[in-house]
Amino acid sequence: MRQPFEKGRVLVRIEIARDYEALSERAARLIADEIEARERIVLGLATGSTPLGVYRRWIEWVRAEQLSFAGVSTFNLDEYVGLAPDHPQSYWSFMQEKLFRQIDIRPSNVHIPQGNAEDVQAHCAEYERQIRAAGGIDIQILGIGGNGHIGFNEPGAEFGGSTHLVALAESTRRANARFFKKEEDVPTHAVTMGLKSIMNARQILLLASGRGKSEAVARAVYGDVTPDHPASILQLHPNCVFLLDEEAALGVTEGERTR
Ligand code: PGA
Repeated sequence: MRQPFEKGRVLVRIEIARDYEALSERAARLIADEIEARERIVLGLATGSTPLGVYRRWIEWVRAEQLSFAGVSTFNLDEYVGLAPDHPQSYWSFMQEKLFRQIDIRPSNVHIPQGNAEDVQAHCAEYERQIRAAGGIDIQILGIGGNGHIGFNEPGAEFGGSTHLVALAESTRRANARFFKKEEDVPTHAVTMGLKSIMNARQILLLASGRGKSEAVARAVYGDVTPDHPASILQLHPNCVFLLDEEAALGVTEGERTR
Protein backbone atom coordinates (compact mmCIF):
# COMPACT_ATOMS: atom_id res chain seq x y z
CA MET A 1 0.00 0.00 0.00
CA ARG A 2 1.25 3.51 -0.81
CA GLN A 3 1.83 5.49 2.34
CA PRO A 4 1.12 9.19 2.05
CA PHE A 5 3.62 10.39 4.65
CA GLU A 6 5.67 13.50 4.44
CA LYS A 7 9.26 13.24 5.56
CA GLY A 8 9.66 13.93 9.25
CA ARG A 9 6.08 13.11 10.11
CA VAL A 10 5.71 11.37 13.47
CA LEU A 11 4.23 7.91 13.04
CA VAL A 12 4.10 6.74 16.63
CA ARG A 13 5.68 7.78 19.89
CA ILE A 14 7.28 5.02 21.90
CA GLU A 15 7.66 5.24 25.66
CA ILE A 16 9.35 2.46 27.56
CA ALA A 17 8.69 1.78 31.23
CA ARG A 18 10.83 -0.52 33.35
CA ASP A 19 8.20 -3.14 33.98
CA TYR A 20 4.47 -3.78 34.04
CA GLU A 21 3.88 -1.85 37.26
CA ALA A 22 5.72 1.22 35.97
CA LEU A 23 3.85 1.03 32.69
CA SER A 24 0.51 0.81 34.50
CA GLU A 25 1.39 3.72 36.77
CA ARG A 26 2.37 5.90 33.81
CA ALA A 27 -0.76 5.10 31.79
CA ALA A 28 -3.09 5.49 34.77
CA ARG A 29 -1.53 8.84 35.67
CA LEU A 30 -1.55 10.16 32.10
CA ILE A 31 -5.27 9.53 31.74
CA ALA A 32 -6.12 10.61 35.30
CA ASP A 33 -4.47 13.97 34.54
CA GLU A 34 -6.75 14.37 31.52
CA ILE A 35 -9.82 13.37 33.55
CA GLU A 36 -8.93 15.99 36.15
CA ALA A 37 -8.25 18.66 33.56
CA ARG A 38 -11.63 18.40 31.82
CA GLU A 39 -15.18 18.59 32.97
CA ARG A 40 -16.23 15.80 30.62
CA ILE A 41 -14.15 13.19 28.86
CA VAL A 42 -14.91 10.11 26.78
CA LEU A 43 -12.61 7.13 27.24
CA GLY A 44 -12.32 4.08 25.02
CA LEU A 45 -11.57 1.08 27.25
CA ALA A 46 -10.20 -2.40 26.67
CA THR A 47 -10.48 -5.75 28.42
CA GLY A 48 -7.69 -8.35 28.64
CA SER A 49 -4.92 -8.60 31.21
CA THR A 50 -2.88 -5.59 30.14
CA PRO A 51 -5.08 -2.70 31.34
CA LEU A 52 -5.75 -4.27 34.75
CA GLY A 53 -2.86 -2.46 36.42
CA VAL A 54 -4.32 0.84 35.18
CA TYR A 55 -7.80 -0.03 36.46
CA ARG A 56 -6.42 -1.06 39.87
CA ARG A 57 -4.75 2.31 40.25
CA TRP A 58 -7.87 4.25 39.24
CA ILE A 59 -9.86 2.30 41.84
CA GLU A 60 -7.28 3.14 44.51
CA TRP A 61 -7.31 6.82 43.60
CA VAL A 62 -11.11 6.99 43.58
CA ARG A 63 -11.20 5.35 47.03
CA ALA A 64 -8.66 7.87 48.25
CA GLU A 65 -10.86 10.63 46.74
CA GLN A 66 -8.03 11.79 44.53
CA LEU A 67 -9.91 11.03 41.32
CA SER A 68 -13.54 11.09 40.23
CA PHE A 69 -15.22 9.49 37.23
CA ALA A 70 -18.34 11.67 37.61
CA GLY A 71 -17.57 13.42 34.30
CA VAL A 72 -16.35 10.33 32.44
CA SER A 73 -18.16 8.34 29.77
CA THR A 74 -16.71 5.11 28.47
CA PHE A 75 -17.02 2.92 25.39
CA ASN A 76 -15.54 -0.56 25.45
CA LEU A 77 -13.94 -2.00 22.36
CA ASP A 78 -15.68 -5.33 22.13
CA GLU A 79 -17.84 -8.12 23.48
CA TYR A 80 -18.28 -11.83 22.80
CA VAL A 81 -21.32 -12.81 20.76
CA GLY A 82 -23.70 -15.25 22.39
CA LEU A 83 -23.02 -14.23 25.98
CA ALA A 84 -25.61 -12.23 27.87
CA PRO A 85 -24.15 -9.22 29.68
CA ASP A 86 -24.41 -10.96 33.06
CA HIS A 87 -22.63 -14.13 31.86
CA PRO A 88 -19.54 -14.49 34.08
CA GLN A 89 -17.16 -14.51 31.07
CA SER A 90 -18.73 -11.59 29.23
CA TYR A 91 -16.68 -8.44 28.89
CA TRP A 92 -19.57 -6.61 30.53
CA SER A 93 -19.06 -8.74 33.68
CA PHE A 94 -15.28 -8.32 33.41
CA MET A 95 -15.55 -4.53 33.31
CA GLN A 96 -18.10 -4.38 36.13
CA GLU A 97 -15.89 -6.49 38.35
CA LYS A 98 -12.50 -5.02 37.44
CA LEU A 99 -13.50 -1.38 37.29
CA PHE A 100 -17.01 0.03 37.09
CA ARG A 101 -18.46 -1.39 40.29
CA GLN A 102 -15.56 0.06 42.22
CA ILE A 103 -15.52 3.62 40.92
CA ASP A 104 -17.98 6.51 40.95
CA ILE A 105 -18.95 6.34 37.27
CA ARG A 106 -22.63 6.78 36.33
CA PRO A 107 -23.93 3.47 34.98
CA SER A 108 -25.66 5.33 32.15
CA ASN A 109 -22.26 6.66 31.02
CA VAL A 110 -20.89 3.14 30.53
CA HIS A 111 -21.18 1.60 27.06
CA ILE A 112 -20.21 -1.93 26.07
CA PRO A 113 -21.35 -3.65 22.88
CA GLN A 114 -24.08 -6.16 23.63
CA GLY A 115 -23.22 -9.78 22.85
CA ASN A 116 -26.78 -11.03 22.70
CA ALA A 117 -28.48 -8.31 20.67
CA GLU A 118 -31.32 -9.70 18.56
CA ASP A 119 -30.33 -7.62 15.56
CA VAL A 120 -26.54 -7.45 15.67
CA GLN A 121 -26.23 -5.13 12.65
CA ALA A 122 -28.67 -2.63 14.11
CA HIS A 123 -26.91 -2.81 17.46
CA CYS A 124 -23.53 -2.08 15.83
CA ALA A 125 -24.95 0.96 14.03
CA GLU A 126 -26.51 2.15 17.29
CA TYR A 127 -23.17 1.77 19.11
CA GLU A 128 -21.48 3.98 16.52
CA ARG A 129 -24.30 6.49 16.87
CA GLN A 130 -23.81 6.57 20.63
CA ILE A 131 -20.07 7.21 20.24
CA ARG A 132 -20.82 10.12 17.90
CA ALA A 133 -23.55 11.46 20.20
CA ALA A 134 -21.06 11.47 23.10
CA GLY A 135 -18.76 13.67 20.98
CA GLY A 136 -16.33 10.93 19.95
CA ILE A 137 -13.64 9.21 21.97
CA ASP A 138 -10.99 11.46 23.52
CA ILE A 139 -8.53 8.78 24.60
CA GLN A 140 -8.61 5.18 23.48
CA ILE A 141 -6.73 2.51 25.44
CA LEU A 142 -5.64 -0.49 23.39
CA GLY A 143 -3.92 -3.78 24.03
CA ILE A 144 -2.41 -5.73 21.16
CA GLY A 145 -2.77 -9.39 20.28
CA GLY A 146 0.24 -11.55 19.44
CA ASN A 147 -1.16 -11.57 15.89
CA GLY A 148 -1.40 -7.77 15.76
CA HIS A 149 -5.12 -7.53 16.47
CA ILE A 150 -6.56 -4.46 18.17
CA GLY A 151 -9.98 -4.83 19.70
CA PHE A 152 -11.13 -7.96 17.89
CA ASN A 153 -9.94 -6.68 14.55
CA GLU A 154 -8.07 -9.77 13.45
CA PRO A 155 -5.57 -9.97 10.55
CA GLY A 156 -7.37 -9.12 7.32
CA ALA A 157 -9.73 -6.63 9.01
CA GLU A 158 -10.86 -3.76 6.84
CA PHE A 159 -9.18 -0.44 7.58
CA GLY A 160 -12.51 1.30 6.95
CA GLY A 161 -14.52 -0.84 9.37
CA SER A 162 -16.88 0.53 11.99
CA THR A 163 -18.44 -1.54 14.81
CA HIS A 164 -19.21 -4.96 13.34
CA LEU A 165 -19.55 -8.69 13.87
CA VAL A 166 -16.31 -10.73 13.53
CA ALA A 167 -15.20 -14.35 13.65
CA LEU A 168 -12.35 -14.77 16.14
CA ALA A 169 -9.00 -16.12 14.96
CA GLU A 170 -8.10 -19.53 16.38
CA SER A 171 -4.99 -18.00 17.98
CA THR A 172 -7.18 -15.45 19.77
CA ARG A 173 -9.57 -18.13 21.03
CA ARG A 174 -6.57 -20.09 22.33
CA ALA A 175 -5.08 -17.01 23.99
CA ASN A 176 -8.40 -16.23 25.68
CA ALA A 177 -9.14 -19.81 26.74
CA ARG A 178 -7.45 -19.00 30.06
CA PHE A 179 -10.58 -17.11 31.08
CA PHE A 180 -12.89 -20.08 30.34
CA LYS A 181 -13.20 -23.63 31.69
CA LYS A 182 -12.27 -25.14 28.34
CA GLU A 183 -11.20 -23.85 24.95
CA GLU A 184 -14.47 -25.01 23.33
CA ASP A 185 -16.31 -22.59 25.63
CA VAL A 186 -14.60 -19.56 24.07
CA PRO A 187 -17.16 -17.93 21.76
CA THR A 188 -16.40 -18.06 18.04
CA HIS A 189 -17.65 -14.55 17.28
CA ALA A 190 -17.55 -11.09 18.75
CA VAL A 191 -18.78 -7.57 18.15
CA THR A 192 -15.91 -5.13 17.93
CA MET A 193 -15.34 -1.49 17.23
CA GLY A 194 -13.75 -1.39 13.79
CA LEU A 195 -10.39 0.04 12.82
CA LYS A 196 -12.05 3.21 11.60
CA SER A 197 -13.89 3.63 14.92
CA ILE A 198 -10.57 3.22 16.75
CA MET A 199 -8.73 5.60 14.43
CA ASN A 200 -11.40 8.26 15.04
CA ALA A 201 -10.26 8.59 18.67
CA ARG A 202 -8.40 11.84 19.25
CA GLN A 203 -5.60 10.11 21.11
CA ILE A 204 -4.58 6.47 21.30
CA LEU A 205 -2.57 4.81 24.03
CA LEU A 206 -1.49 1.27 23.18
CA LEU A 207 -0.23 -0.75 26.15
CA ALA A 208 1.89 -3.86 25.79
CA SER A 209 3.75 -5.89 28.37
CA GLY A 210 5.96 -8.94 28.11
CA ARG A 211 8.21 -10.61 25.61
CA GLY A 212 5.27 -12.35 23.93
CA LYS A 213 4.14 -9.00 22.52
CA SER A 214 7.52 -7.73 21.29
CA GLU A 215 7.25 -9.03 17.72
CA ALA A 216 3.70 -7.80 17.26
CA VAL A 217 4.77 -4.38 18.60
CA ALA A 218 7.84 -4.11 16.36
CA ARG A 219 5.82 -5.07 13.31
CA ALA A 220 3.13 -2.52 14.19
CA VAL A 221 5.70 0.25 14.52
CA TYR A 222 8.19 -0.54 11.75
CA GLY A 223 6.35 -2.89 9.42
CA ASP A 224 4.22 -2.15 6.38
CA VAL A 225 0.85 -0.61 7.06
CA THR A 226 -1.30 -3.58 6.13
CA PRO A 227 -4.54 -5.30 7.19
CA ASP A 228 -2.39 -8.43 7.71
CA HIS A 229 -1.20 -6.72 10.88
CA PRO A 230 -4.11 -4.55 12.04
CA ALA A 231 -2.12 -2.56 14.64
CA SER A 232 0.10 -1.21 11.85
CA ILE A 233 -2.76 1.15 10.97
CA LEU A 234 -1.78 3.14 14.06
CA GLN A 235 1.16 4.54 12.09
CA LEU A 236 -1.48 6.62 10.30
CA HIS A 237 -2.87 8.12 13.52
CA PRO A 238 -1.76 11.68 14.34
CA ASN A 239 -1.57 11.17 18.11
CA CYS A 240 -0.65 7.63 19.07
CA VAL A 241 1.64 6.52 21.88
CA PHE A 242 2.93 3.00 22.40
CA LEU A 243 3.57 2.57 26.11
CA LEU A 244 5.64 -0.57 26.61
CA ASP A 245 7.55 -2.36 29.28
CA GLU A 246 11.13 -3.36 28.54
CA GLU A 247 10.22 -6.86 27.40
CA ALA A 248 7.51 -5.75 25.00
CA ALA A 249 9.96 -3.13 23.71
CA LEU A 250 12.68 -5.61 22.77
CA GLY A 251 12.25 -4.87 19.06
CA VAL A 252 11.86 -1.08 19.21
CA THR A 253 13.64 2.00 20.50
CA GLU A 254 12.23 4.77 22.63
CA GLY A 255 11.33 8.08 21.04
CA GLU A 256 9.45 9.21 18.00
CA ARG A 257 9.31 6.98 15.00
CA THR A 258 9.21 9.33 12.05
CA ARG A 259 9.34 8.91 8.34
P1 PGA B 1 -4.04 -9.09 26.83
O1 PGA B 1 -4.84 -9.04 25.46
O2 PGA B 1 -4.07 -7.72 27.39
O3 PGA B 1 -4.80 -10.07 27.67
O4 PGA B 1 -2.65 -9.55 26.49
C1 PGA B 1 -4.62 -8.02 24.56
C2 PGA B 1 -5.34 -8.29 23.27
O5 PGA B 1 -5.47 -9.47 22.87
O6 PGA B 1 -5.78 -7.32 22.64
